[in-house]
Amino acid sequence: MKGIVIFLILLHNVCGVKDYLFKDCDNSGFCQRNRLYAKNIAENESPYAVSQPSLVVSNTAQNSLTGVITKSIPQLDETRQFPFEISILEGSILRFKADEMRPETSGGMIRGNRYNEAAKWAFQDPDVPYESKYPVNVESTDQLVTISFGPNDTKAEFDVKDMTIKIYYKGQLQLVVNERNFFNIEHYRKRDENDKHLLPFESDFDSFKDSHNTASEDSIPLGPESIGLDFTFAGYKHVYGIPEHADSMSLKDTSESNWPYRLFNVDIFEYDTDSRMPMYGSIPLMLATKPKMSTAVFWLNAADTFIDIHKSNDVKTHWISENGVMDFLVILGETPAEINSKYGRLTGYAPLPPMFSLGYHQCRWNYNDEKDVLDITSKMDETLVPYDTIWLDVEYADAKKYFTWDIDAFPDPERMLKALDRTGRNLVLIIDPHLKVGYYVSDEVRKRDLAMKNSKNETFHGHCWPGESVWIDTFNPGSQEYWDSLFVRSETNKVMGGMSTNIYVWNDMNEPSVFDGPETSAPRDNIFYDGWEHRSVHNIYGLTFHEATFESLTKRLESSTRQRPFILTRSFYAGSQRTSAMWTGDNMAKWEYLEASIPMVLSSGIAGMPFAGADVGGFFGNPSKELLTRWYQTGIWYPFFRAHAHIDSRRREPWVPGEPFTSIIRDAIRLRYALLPTFYTCFYDSSQSGLPVMKPIFYECPHNVDAYEIDDQFFLGNSGLMVKPVTSEGATSVDVYLPDNEVYYEFTSGVPGKAYKGPKTVDLDVELADIPMFLKGGSIVARKDRYRRSTKLMQNDPYTLVVAFDNQGKATGKLHIDDGESYGYKEGQEINLQFYADSKGITAQFETVPDPTYVKAMQKIKIEKIILLGHGNDDQALVTQGEKSWQVQIVDGEIRNAGMSVAAEWKIKFATKLTHDEL
Ligand SMILES: *[C@@H]1O[C@H](CO)[C@@H](O)[C@H](O)[C@H]1NC(C)=O
Ligand SMILES: *[C@@H]1O[C@H](CO)[C@@H](O)[C@H](O)[C@H]1NC(C)=O
Repeated sequence: MKGIVIFLILLHNVCGVKDYLFKDCDNSGFCQRNRLYAKNIAENESPYAVSQPSLVVSNTAQNSLTGVITKSIPQLDETRQFPFEISILEGSILRFKADEMRPETSGGMIRGNRYNEAAKWAFQDPDVPYESKYPVNVESTDQLVTISFGPNDTKAEFDVKDMTIKIYYKGQLQLVVNERNFFNIEHYRKRDENDKHLLPFESDFDSFKDSHNTASEDSIPLGPESIGLDFTFAGYKHVYGIPEHADSMSLKDTSESNWPYRLFNVDIFEYDTDSRMPMYGSIPLMLATKPKMSTAVFWLNAADTFIDIHKSNDVKTHWISENGVMDFLVILGETPAEINSKYGRLTGYAPLPPMFSLGYHQCRWNYNDEKDVLDITSKMDETLVPYDTIWLDVEYADAKKYFTWDIDAFPDPERMLKALDRTGRNLVLIIDPHLKVGYYVSDEVRKRDLAMKNSKNETFHGHCWPGESVWIDTFNPGSQEYWDSLFVRSETNKVMGGMSTNIYVWNDMNEPSVFDGPETSAPRDNIFYDGWEHRSVHNIYGLTFHEATFESLTKRLESSTRQRPFILTRSFYAGSQRTSAMWTGDNMAKWEYLEASIPMVLSSGIAGMPFAGADVGGFFGNPSKELLTRWYQTGIWYPFFRAHAHIDSRRREPWVPGEPFTSIIRDAIRLRYALLPTFYTCFYDSSQSGLPVMKPIFYECPHNVDAYEIDDQFFLGNSGLMVKPVTSEGATSVDVYLPDNEVYYEFTSGVPGKAYKGPKTVDLDVELADIPMFLKGGSIVARKDRYRRSTKLMQNDPYTLVVAFDNQGKATGKLHIDDGESYGYKEGQEINLQFYADSKGITAQFETVPDPTYVKAMQKIKIEKIILLGHGNDDQALVTQGEKSWQVQIVDGEIRNAGMSVAAEWKIKFATKLTHDEL
């Protein structure tokens, strides 16, 4: 949904609305001060030094090196101390952590120490496993501490005098920490002493006040406490990640701009494309890639953060956060996929979602009442458009009070849910963290003392959709129990549809969005559980909220067969992938937003959050019929595929534009459904390895530098399907880059065509109905080609395999099958088939041993058809499965009645009639 409405309209014509509402670096005290510090430090001596006597070296992964960094304040004849530690985590990940020894401070209502709990939320297991596989070896001389910490000649050289860390992988320099001496921790001082604490080249801009128009009431109780540090990615030309921004996938140089990439979760109304401005979510993970090497920095901080990028022969970056401890991790590997795998072991992989959630989601603000919802469902069936889920935005609730219904519009939610369930359809309800004052939920939140507090430690009140509201503090462990109680599955809980289980949740506005707050969020001096300032935890709040919802929904579903929850969140942080899908917020019905959606989803996947999508059609405005059609053809490739529209936009469901558009849209959606077995297998892979589902080209060919900037085409996981959707108006042709030395079969809209040999660019003619696709030689993908109304009704349908032979006449592929809704697959109620093909035939083998009862239940499900691309002229084949063998014909490169069960291993042997005759 949406943003700030009334409030913004007033400002609309002032200047760049967003520049006015959101702080760039010049308007942000801590960013401006650190940029100035960085500018001046080259001609000045750094006040920071490592205290040599403090160093303690240990040959264990746990705290391999500890010590103290000092900062001298000569004019006061004082030094401050920053204890630090370097440890090695599983996956040979180097972690550096520095805190400040503050004098006994008290922020009054708040904690005086620096926030140090980001890892608790970001990591899958808060007790981080240390590296156990590879011994850590630490050697030190006077000036150099060398930590060897992994295979492949991985080491860190800590130069004590220069205070730099050089990190090597395969013996080559990858990363230099603090090469440019930007290391800076603004130490604690009192308001009236600030001047005395400044170095001659430092600024005091906005140290104890905020001069930005929306934030002047910030009390900044602890004064300046920012951290800054530079990282040089040695010999790299490209860096990626740090979502969320509406920008290119390969990140841009920001040296000449007031807008370094900013990470600060905000409800950014009508966001711009080609922008480094902050958006709804933040994942502070940056990946750099060059042939044979990848390096990532994970900056574990939850406060407002700016990242400057300067590109030369290296990529030089400067990270600046408003407060918190300095805590970062360095992840090394040969390929970007290896980085995802290691990062995912730390922060968790996105779990395998329920199958329905990979189907088509139909949303708008709003479907008005029960009749509207059921009419949409009937219309989908009449026009033969498959769909799985209808969504209800804020208007379903009585006066936007979550956990109530507008009973005039929705008199009997359970009845509606049952009607949807008849054709396997689901409902998603929006539930936001702002709770209208004066009804049972907000009353109870207050009574239990679970609300976010203002700087005086009183319940905070602000404005959001329902008017005056309070916000549930999901940092507070006590919130979970109350939240759970609202989700209970029972005859009486009308809100969550009584006993129904086909109901799931959408968490929006959880940045948190506060219409009358600074930068549309809550004041930074607000207080969360345990006395942490909102300033310190801001970027994590959204995650705490959707995690709480996930937990509650899990408990609700525990006793049903549908056990895997589905949650969509707008705000996210590192680790959000464990419990939620995300979408890119309030885009517009314009071509440039369609185009921007691809790099945005790719960046999300690079940062470990693969289950992502953009609103199909564009949220604001009315797309032309052509744009709507092209958006569906692109949207079917988003891992999360949902159409959504603003309340002021016209209806635009698939049948609205009329012919030929409606048929083309329907065919696109059906192509998504046909490919669901492949999508599902890619999600399964991702749940095991962290691999993006919408996968950048450079993941497929990590050593091809020509692929490093391509962000308008992509692969579907490791399936070999490569797509370049049409994203420009009136296009009659598209250039598609075939990125490696392999044969690629044209596969436009799923129909096999000509074979091309890469690497090269091919120019394809396109018509409105065309979705440019290729299938890479060497792949085998699975489809289900019959039209059904929903994924649930496809469960017993037969499979088609498409086998695309490579240059050597070989192909491989995978297929994961399970019930699509329970956790049974974790106990073997799954089938993992591995396919191999060569000129002699095809085999299918189990990759894991399936549960025999599951196999029995699946016996009847067949592979009916096999399409062979690039195969010779055999015209018959012998199929063997178990004890049985049978002959099949190959006609026009297809085996039409293959007849194997998917639930057992099999073999096909090709043969040519000619050879038989000759014999
Ligand atoms: C703030 O309020 C909470 C309860 O709402 C209380 O536990 C805490 O002690 C208060 N903090 C201060 C500094 O008064
Ligand atoms: C070492 O490098 C090889 C590639 O050269 C890679 O496959 C392997 O995973 C690396 N080992 C580790 C533990 O990173």
